[in-house]
Amino acid sequence: MKKRVSALFLAMALTLGLAACGGKAEPTPEAPQSVTGTGEGTGYGGAIKVEVTLSADKTVIEEINVTEQNETESIGGKAIELLTASVKENQTVNLDAVTGATLASEGFLGAVKAAIENAGGDVASFSAAVEKDGETQTLDVDVVVVGAGGAGMTAAIAAAQAGKKVVILEKTAIAGGNTSRSTGGMNAAKTDWQDTNEWGESAGLEKTLSTAAETYPDLAELVNAVQKEYDDWKAAGSNGYFDSVNLFILDAMVGGKNVNDIELVRTLAGNTADAINWLDGIGAELHNVGSFGGASVKRIHRPVNAEGKTVSVGGYIVPILEKACTDNGVEIIFNAPATEIIMDSGKAVGVKAEGYTVNAKAVILATGGFGANLKMVAELKPELDGFVTTNAAGVTGDGIKMAEAVGAVTVDMTEIQIHPTVEQATSALITEGLRGDGAILVNAEGKRFCDEVGTRDAVSAAELAQTGGYAWLVVDQKMVDASSVIAGYITKGYTVQGETYADLAKAMGVPEDTLPATMETWNAAVGAKNDAEFGRTSFANPLDTAPYYAIKIAPGVHHTMGGVKINTNTEVQTAAGTSIPGLYAAGEITGGVHGANRLGGNAVADIVVFGKIAGEQAAAYAK
Ligand code: FUM
Repeated sequence: MKKRVSALFLAMALTLGLAACGGKAEPTPEAPQSVTGTGEGTGYGGAIKVEVTLSADKTVIEEINVTEQNETESIGGKAIELLTASVKENQTVNLDAVTGATLASEGFLGAVKAAIENAGGDVASFSAAVEKDGETQTLDVDVVVVGAGGAGMTAAIAAAQAGKKVVILEKTAIAGGNTSRSTGGMNAAKTDWQDTNEWGESAGLEKTLSTAAETYPDLAELVNAVQKEYDDWKAAGSNGYFDSVNLFILDAMVGGKNVNDIELVRTLAGNTADAINWLDGIGAELHNVGSFGGASVKRIHRPVNAEGKTVSVGGYIVPILEKACTDNGVEIIFNAPATEIIMDSGKAVGVKAEGYTVNAKAVILATGGFGANLKMVAELKPELDGFVTTNAAGVTGDGIKMAEAVGAVTVDMTEIQIHPTVEQATSALITEGLRGDGAILVNAEGKRFCDEVGTRDAVSAAELAQTGGYAWLVVDQKMVDASSVIAGYITKGYTVQGETYADLAKAMGVPEDTLPATMETWNAAVGAKNDAEFGRTSFANPLDTAPYYAIKIAPGVHHTMGGVKINTNTEVQTAAGTSIPGLYAAGEITGGVHGANRLGGNAVADIVVFGKIAGEQAAAYAK
């Protein structure tokens, strides 16, 4: 009944409508329809799939929808976001790859081109070059920071929190620098989050004390101080967690071969617990504590996801720092490579960059090291010629050269670190955290060959001495279940796997009778917490849960320990030992903190501690 009434009403309405128009009903012509095509490209993390919608006449890109991508959020993911906006705004696919995210950029642009073609469009008509604005803008601020990596953003936030107007000049289109590549975590001593001591850790501490006492007599006072703290802790019933600022300093000095500037190390170590709290304050929680190479106790602080699995520290922390910049009123200017520090009567008073002149009361350099400048690396350390690098593409040493041009002195420039576990086809860093959490290294003969949780220089050297100069990193399913980082390595195709040790050996191409014996011996060592073969003191769990996985790795350039000399206030130093007024530096651009070999987890500590000091000092100077 209801249906019939509606039909009647509709018929009447149509009749009245036609009468009002005074004509006969004509069929309305169909509106021209937009057309959508799909396309696929390949990025760093695999397939990138898009849908592109063109206007009906196929002359306008109306919409781009990314339907699938597995890029690192703060690197490739950010590049895809920027390029999506740029393709739509400029109506062209003729865009440069985003520096530091070349594979993701090319994969995305390839996918968009394929989608345009599949929608029946003409890619050539969307290929105009984007014209660059030749104007130079002049800005006046209190503090200008060069580089939007971890150190630069931390410094900027600290200066802004002190009430200053701050601008960051970033040479690339995305924030993060090498911090985005950082996976492991941040070392911090004596925090609220270090809560379980195990027998194996005391063994690590005792080993450090005896190595330091034997090798570096000038560290005797520090060794004695740590010994006393440890003895007092034991005498008090071994309550709580044993760690101390002095032990952090001792680890960094032994790891750095006693080449470090000990005053910088004292500043670093003494401020790490506060730095963890400061990060908490901006919403970055590093509360999961694990083992890392060269640390006598569990000290590396890591983020976890909602499921409690560890995640990459860089991918986690960079978006939080970027948001904190925005929240504190810091402007980040992207695609603005700095070219020169502006000086006036011996004082730093601003920075010139492509497209910008920024006048400021204080300048902070946070441009990172030079690990992506493989020519510079090979010139300073010829034996590293031909090595791959884990570094972000923008990390090329520009800031060091700018600082030298205004009288800064550098230290330790030939101290360049290779990281022992780098996937060679992609240069992807395979985090040391895997070894800290229980992974082992085996060689082409299917045998272990070193203490996997030794310092990076020691592990890398041991690896290079093996057949072919490479090794396999072996983990089990239990480790995969606890770490979204390892799960990511599997998704990216870095692993081979097997249901049994013999299957895994077959997949790795190592002797099938050797690997099972190696695994059984290792599992027994974990059970006994005694590695009779190589003296490893950090054990975690046996590798006994199938399936088993292995990643083929070899060393790659990872960190440049040398750089601009600073004092503990981050003031940039001249050869004469004076500070350059108004000029500060923090992070990997500086030298002296890590000596001849940086410990894993000390770079994130460095950028937060010294970044914060640089921001506070520059703000105080900029009164
Ligand atoms: O292996 C890593 O996750 C690297 C950490 C670091 O260089 O600090």
